[in-house]
Amino acid sequence: MKKFKWLFILLAMMLCMTAFAACGAPEDPPVAEVPAEPGYTAEAPGEGPASASDITSVGGVPLVTLNNGVQMPRFGLGTQIQELESGDLGILNQTARESVTAALQAGYRHLDSAHGYMNERGVGQGIVDSGVPREEIWLTSKLWPSEYDNAYEAIDDMLERFQTDYLDLVYLHHPAGSISDIESAWRDLERAYREGKIRALGISNFDNRMEAFNAIMDEEIKPQIMQIECHPFAQRIEARELAERYNIQVECWYPLGHADQRLLNSDTLEAIASAHGKSVVQVIICWHIQEGFSVIPGSTNPDHIRENIDIFDFELTDEEMAQIRAMDEGENGRFFNINYDGFMGNYFVNNPPREWNGEFTN
Ligand SMILES: NC(=O)c1ccc[n+]([C@@H]2O[C@H](COP(=O)([O-])OP(=O)(O)OC[C@H]3O[C@@H](n4cnc5c(N)ncnc54)[C@H](OP(=O)(O)O)[C@@H]3O)[C@@H](O)[C@H]2O)c1
Repeated sequence: MKKFKWLFILLAMMLCMTAFAACGAPEDPPVAEVPAEPGYTAEAPGEGPASASDITSVGGVPLVTLNNGVQMPRFGLGTQIQELESGDLGILNQTARESVTAALQAGYRHLDSAHGYMNERGVGQGIVDSGVPREEIWLTSKLWPSEYDNAYEAIDDMLERFQTDYLDLVYLHHPAGSISDIESAWRDLERAYREGKIRALGISNFDNRMEAFNAIMDEEIKPQIMQIECHPFAQRIEARELAERYNIQVECWYPLGHADQRLLNSDTLEAIASAHGKSVVQVIICWHIQEGFSVIPGSTNPDHIRENIDIFDFELTDEEMAQIRAMDEGENGRFFNINYDGFMGNYFVNNPPREWNGEFTN
């Protein structure tokens, strides 16, 4: 049964999506209860292994200064390979390893992984294979909700899987489970941050559960980054305003709509792409950058990986930006809108990611 677990998660998510589509858009997101802190600055990360970090701009990728003074490249590789998650974890990790090596060799210096993607070992091995020094790379991972009640140990396990002694960014992946477990996980992240094991802290998908969002905003160190679904069909205006109120950088997942064909074949985007001699995907990534997002398009195809970073030699005009903004379908344009108070919330807490302890072959 175990090997069908991730397939089951995907099916359950698809059911949620269908239910969401049938019910239409949800009500307006509730407003945060905690007073906003515009211009919020967080204490800097403590001295520790992470002090070795040496991030610079490579390949024209802009850096953003986060609310704790740390600089992050605003473009990176998304490493989730959903179609392999229910299969052989050795193949999954080998695929992640190869795409990470291709990306680092193409100039990428930001990698987005997660325990839930079951690929951290592959990502870590890809870094080693690439020959790029660890300190020059922004490495992100995410704690899974089943780990929230003992997050401090889970961070050490994560470091071991990546073969590294620090992470640049760790998210709480989903606002699932009890608020007290979420708060306890956040305090463990704060501890690791103060010990110089993590350079920035993030919340992922917390825009879907304001109770959890507000709880984190009450903590001593507020997040530097918030990861949300965001692409031209779902431009997430309310969630972006929420982030801005707390001086939090937004990072977009599904930035290409997970290769949704209606998006990639849009007439508007095709016309803009041909005006610049670029591909539709390049135009979408350029739009993300010009909107101020951090963006992590996923790919396992080395040609696509190189194409996606080749965007820093052109700019979209104000009119083109306006045309893409007009593609926003609001909440209806989202592909996932999980209700964490329901079945999925409990499911995430009770189902840890599968572990792979095999050996890589060359
Ligand atoms: N926090 C969360 O809950 C959450 C949820 C989902 C995703 N994420 C993160 O966000 C990242 C991005 O999401 P995603 O990878 O699912 O979706 P995505 O980046 O929107 O789209 C990826 C898809 O686009 C295709 N693609 C990429 N470059 C292309 C190109 N130049 N031309 C044509 N097709 C191209 C890829 O296929 P090829 O492999 O063939 O290039 C893949 O099928 C993930 O990898 C993950 O790191 C986070």
